[in-house]
Amino acid sequence: MLAGATAIWILVVGLSVFVTVVKPGRFSERAGVHLIVWGGCVFPTVVLGALLWYGLALMPGFRAPADEGPRIAISGERFWWRVNYGVDGTPGVAKSLPRGGTESANELWLPVGKRTEILLGSPDVIHSFWVPSIAGKTDTIPGRVNRIVLEPTREGVFNGVCAEFCGEAHAQMGFRVIVASQADFDARIAAEAAPAAVTSGPGYDAFMANGCAGCHTVRGTEAAGRVGPDLTHVAARATIGAGLLPMTTENLALFIHSTGHVKPGVEMPAFSALPKTELDAIAAWLGDLP
Ligand code: CUA
Repeated sequence: MLAGATAIWILVVGLSVFVTVVKPGRFSERAGVHLIVWGGCVFPTVVLGALLWYGLALMPGFRAPADEGPRIAISGERFWWRVNYGVDGTPGVAKSLPRGGTESANELWLPVGKRTEILLGSPDVIHSFWVPSIAGKTDTIPGRVNRIVLEPTREGVFNGVCAEFCGEAHAQMGFRVIVASQADFDARIAAEAAPAAVTSGPGYDAFMANGCAGCHTVRGTEAAGRVGPDLTHVAARATIGAGLLPMTTENLALFIHSTGHVKPGVEMPAFSALPKTELDAIAAWLGDLP
C-alpha cells in the first residue's frame, strides 16, 4: 500500500509540476478532459478493482478451518465468559453453541503457533469478544454463531475485554488469554477436564445447602447448575468475577458476601446473610479447587 501510494503521489505531483512549471500553457482543454477520464476514472477503477480482487482472494485463508489447533466455544454472558474446550458438532444458526467439551470461565488458553477455531455466541444480549494483542473485535450475538480463527504467534498473558455495551457490569467483563506451548496447553486442558480435587467437607456441604449448585457446576459433585461459571477448577484462575479481584480465599468470601457491591449489576445474588463460618467454609473449599 505504501509503495503503491508513493508511486501514485510521485506521478500526480510530477504531472502537476510538468504542466504548470515545465511546459505551462502547452495543453488544450481536450487534454485536460482526457486526463480526468483516464487518470481520474479508468485508472483508479482498474487499480482499486485489482486490489479488491486480491483482498477477497485472501479472505478464505483467514477464515480457513483450524488445521491442528483445538476448537473452542465461547459464550459472552452477563457479565462473564463461558469457555468450552474441544467442542464438536456444527452449530446451527438460532441454536446455542455446541457443547461436549470441557467447560471453564473467564480464562482462555491457546497453544502458540496453532490455528485455533473459536465459535462465539451469547444467550442474552450482544457482547463483543476482544483481545487487542491477538485479534480484532468479534460480536457474540444471541441466536447466531460467529466464527473466528486465531493464530497467536508468541507466548504470554494477554488481556481481553467485552467491547460492546451490554449492561451495568459491562466494564467488569474482562478475561485473560494465556498463550502457552502445546505441552503446557495440553496439560492445562487435561487438568481442566479432571473432576474437582475436593468433593466433600464442610465447605461443600455449605455450598449445597445454600443453593449455590442451582447455578454452578462443580464436576465430580452433585453441583450441576448451568447458569453461572463452572467452578470445578476455579482456584486455578488468576481472578474472580471476570477479571475483577485477584484469586484469594479472602476475595472469594468477599465476592460471595458482597457480590453486587464489588461488581454492581452482577446477576449473582449476594449471600450477605450467610453465617461467617459457612461463608468461610465455602470460600476455603473453592480456594482448594485448582
Ligand atoms: Cu458484555 Cu459488554
